[in-house]
Amino acid sequence: MDYTIDFIVKIRDELKKELKPSRYEHTLGVAYTAACMAFMYGEDPLKAELAGILHDCAKCFSNADLIRMCEEAGISLSREEIESPAVIHAVYGRYLAATRFGIMDEDILNAIGNHTTGRPCMSVLEKIIYIADYIEPLRNQAPNLREMRRLAFRDLDECVYQILMSTIDYLTGRGAPIVPATMNAFAWYKREREHL
Ligand SMILES: [Fe+2]
Ligand SMILES: [Fe+2]
Repeated sequence: MDYTIDFIVKIRDELKKELKPSRYEHTLGVAYTAACMAFMYGEDPLKAELAGILHDCAKCFSNADLIRMCEEAGISLSREEIESPAVIHAVYGRYLAATRFGIMDEDILNAIGNHTTGRPCMSVLEKIIYIADYIEPLRNQAPNLREMRRLAFRDLDECVYQILMSTIDYLTGRGAPIVPATMNAFAWYKREREHL
């Protein structure tokens, strides 16, 4: 499927009404960052922009609502996901992108579904969205942002690895649970790196 700018603008306008302003601005930042990264890595820039626009489409719901809506939609959540509810907007966002916005492209759906946790052996688009979510221009918390913004355009896998490591360090430091997908992704990218 080719993604037209009209289709993207229609979704963007709908989300503008639903997301709070700062979340909407973040969404635009991820979309534009993802489109730029797509130029670098030979991915379709409109597809990357669309995935960026949609990645937080379920962020407007509370954790309790997300858990309930997943149940109603027949999406089973693991115990770890329920203990780390921040990851559920990605799981439900994937479902919403398919059912409400009519996205059928598995790569876009995977990019939305895995954008908070990562996973082993991500596609180029999944890596782009995972990284763009971390480095977009309005992000200002992570200590390694400057370095990650450079690395994002130099070495996709190394950048994913470094962001996974920072995320795990951050969650460990706060005593927060870490979902298996993140640990599995970290182990996978670490192994890949060692075999270079
Ligand atoms: Fe998110
Ligand atoms: Fe995000």
